[in-house]
Amino acid sequence: EVEVYKYYADGHWHKSSSAKSVSIINPTTRKTQFKVQACTQEEVNKVMEAAKVAQKAWARTPLWKRAELLHKAAAILKEHKAPIAECLVKEIAKPAKDAVTEVVRSGDLVSYTAEEGVRILGEGKLLVSDSFPGNERSKYCLSSKIPLGVVLAIPPFNYPVNLAVSKIAPALIAGNALVLKPPTQGAVAALHMIHCFHLAGFPKGLINCVTGKGSEIGDFLTMHPGVNCISFTGGDTGIAISKKAGMIPLQMELGGKDACIVLEDADLDLVAANIVKGGFSYSGQRCTAVKVVLIMDSVADEVVEKVKSKMGKLTVGPPEDDCDITPVVTESSANFIEGLVMDAKEKGATFCQEYRREGNLIWPLLLDHVRPDMRIAWEEPFGPVLPIIRIQSVEEGIHHCNASNFGLQGCVFTRDINKAIMISDAMETGTVQINSAPARGPDHFPFQGLKDSGIGSQGITNSINMMVKVKSTVINLP
Ligand code: G3H
Repeated sequence: EVEVYKYYADGHWHKSSSAKSVSIINPTTRKTQFKVQACTQEEVNKVMEAAKVAQKAWARTPLWKRAELLHKAAAILKEHKAPIAECLVKEIAKPAKDAVTEVVRSGDLVSYTAEEGVRILGEGKLLVSDSFPGNERSKYCLSSKIPLGVVLAIPPFNYPVNLAVSKIAPALIAGNALVLKPPTQGAVAALHMIHCFHLAGFPKGLINCVTGKGSEIGDFLTMHPGVNCISFTGGDTGIAISKKAGMIPLQMELGGKDACIVLEDADLDLVAANIVKGGFSYSGQRCTAVKVVLIMDSVADEVVEKVKSKMGKLTVGPPEDDCDITPVVTESSANFIEGLVMDAKEKGATFCQEYRREGNLIWPLLLDHVRPDMRIAWEEPFGPVLPIIRIQSVEEGIHHCNASNFGLQGCVFTRDINKAIMISDAMETGTVQINSAPARGPDHFPFQGLKDSGIGSQGITNSINMMVKVKSTVINLP
């Protein structure tokens, strides 16, 4: 019998009155692993009400006490890393060691946020009037940061714990209440993580986690008048949310087509190592994965050989065995990836390995001589398939990168730092990594996408600042 997990609201675990559930399919076995409650709109309304009430009291709770509770939650999270990681293995087929790393990283993120919060929120500003023309020194403006209210957090399947706490911790330290809508795949890991916050002793109603069908509660949540901020990580849905949401701050991290530009003078072993790590970690299911390699023709053969040899060492199989390449999250995702591969085949890409798939498991594949008329040149597979486009000039590489509708990260490999900086300036992406594959972390670094890759900037400090408003009080002297 498959366990049906309860949702969390008002400090308790509940069954939904819908008496319905949503199934979580194990990507490896393709069988139902867990079930979660299919919450109703009425239940969402109740959660919002409770969150609103809890937030008022929380905003008056001293900052150091808020930080103390977050530190406690971080410690509990780390203590419970094993059962949470086990869920990640079963729900999203994350390799066993990476699953543990995600939880530990999440604990560290929560602690860091508590520390950062007490510092940046503990500071206000004093302005005096006589610096603006026509004013005497008769007005003193005191400004500080106040919470927004209720933050709605929607993380993606690939980091259901880490990209949840990266929204939860800043929201809480800043004095907000939180409603979490976890992804279906990863929902049980998220519920376990929420349980750690429950054990830490946060006030009732402050943190809530509703599960259910997007069709039933998705729009209802994102358009709910009780929501004062949305922090979303995921795909195209984010664009739809931004069109429907009200006049509230939005933080969106959406897709990417991160380009890796390789110059002739690059350290080619370093390049190959980063292409394999960047392209194939968690089977390419990272928004920051290397998704297209743009390489100078003169060094392309050598790099392709080095990459192929490293790819030959990648282990392929179940996440329980800590394999490098594990089944992709859903069958529809595997079908989509296959569609991109078949399109490239029809249009004449060179297959560096044979295409192989069993169920959701797709063997790592490097496609050489990809041309701009192939879908894989522009679309993100979110799987272990990486296209190589050979370029004749750096300008051609920059042009391809900037012609994308995405602009998350990019990377450039060269020993010439001046060239690297100039290329970084020319690339229309939120971050450019010099001589390393794209990555979000360390988690206090700013993280942002241009164009269809997102709105706003994440990273611990930026997320805290995004989840507050400035409030001023002006003292007028007679
Ligand atoms: O999938 C999107 C994540 O923000 C990427 O994070 O660079 O740590 O894998 P990562």
